Amino acid sequence: MRIREILATDSHKTIEIEIDTSKGTVRSSVPIGTSKGKYEVKYLPTQDAIFKFNQLKRHFTNDDFENQEDVDSLIRIIDKSEDLHELGGNLAIGISSAFLKAFAQEAGMEVYEYLLAKQKIKPVIPRPICNIIGGGKHAGRIDIQEFHFIPVHQRTFAESVMKIANAYRTEGKKLKKDDPTFTFAKNVEAAWTSNLTFEEILNLMAKVANENLLKMGLDFAASSLWDGNRYYVYRYANDMLNTHDQLDMIKELMRNYPVIYVEDPFHEDDFESFSVLSHEVTGRLICGDDLYTTNIKRLDVGKSYASTNAAIVKPNQVGTITDTIKFVEAAKHSKMITVMSHRSSDTEDTLISHLAVGLGCDYIKLGISGDRTAKINEMIRIEEKILSSSRLNLNSEIRIRR
Ligand code: PGA
Ligand code: ZN
Repeated sequence: MRIREILATDSHKTIEIEIDTSKGTVRSSVPIGTSKGKYEVKYLPTQDAIFKFNQLKRHFTNDDFENQEDVDSLIRIIDKSEDLHELGGNLAIGISSAFLKAFAQEAGMEVYEYLLAKQKIKPVIPRPICNIIGGGKHAGRIDIQEFHFIPVHQRTFAESVMKIANAYRTEGKKLKKDDPTFTFAKNVEAAWTSNLTFEEILNLMAKVANENLLKMGLDFAASSLWDGNRYYVYRYANDMLNTHDQLDMIKELMRNYPVIYVEDPFHEDDFESFSVLSHEVTGRLICGDDLYTTNIKRLDVGKSYASTNAAIVKPNQVGTITDTIKFVEAAKHSKMITVMSHRSSDTEDTLISHLAVGLGCDYIKLGISGDRTAKINEMIRIEEKILSSSRLNLNSEIRIRR
């Protein structure tokens, strides 16, 4: 077992863990993120994580682990803090996910197959939610962090992403026409960046969505807009909205545009406003990302408020694979739609594609070009393998719970 420092997609340093198995070597690298939620596990600087790893390595190499739970309980015994600040959330998820790959390799299976067998569930291919234009903390002169395209009907994942990729390129051409400053520049998630206004971008997105029979999603990442007191600050639009105005604005957006998915419309402590929005709109997905941070206790609070009908799943927010699985199970148990997601600062690791299928998530949130194609293309390969064994449960109906 070994560790090394490598580069993440936005050139920040991150770590990767390797484990030798009886059948070969597996490797797992750790994503980071830019607009991190305050309830995520805490990362150590990479050199500190490497030092920690070398101190603790013997515990992970001497033990004969039976399964994933054994590995993850050892992580939780070594670091009893909820936010894993002693071991480092990055080291924790690095070790945990490397072991998942090692167990799968020992079993002679791909990771998604291993998970499906463990979970005893039939394969369902998730639908893509792809980031097309971006702003907020992900760069670009737009306050909203992500504008997505989402397929309505999905025959196959491959067909959906090809359609979205086409719409993404069309969007680029339209931006070139409408925004004289546009240079086909992309942000950290390989989404277009633009100097058009929020409204201009919504109109462009809606036009291309309609032409391609796609729907739209928006990630407000509203904790990044929140001033910590009273207002959501829209710096580029030169505007400030209180919670009530924010709610009205989002409801109006949903009336005027084909928006079927809204992520983090309010800041991460405002379970109540999420709940008001969820009650006032029907047939749309209201999704919690920073609200939950893949943490089951926070999901329970969300459930008690009926805050959302969807939840983002990011394994590195919680630090272990076991906790990620428990979160997905709990979300499904409360009939929430689950959205496995990449991070803005990520790596070429395709683990989340396997997790999305292996845990039976409804959607997977990804980028659509550049370094982001690694996860998309792995999804295409996984789907092909599943289709050829024809046990697939096509995820063709829209599944939205009020
Ligand atoms: P990240 O967030 O920049 O922390 O990865 C992306 C998101 O909000 O979905
Ligand atoms: Zn988000």
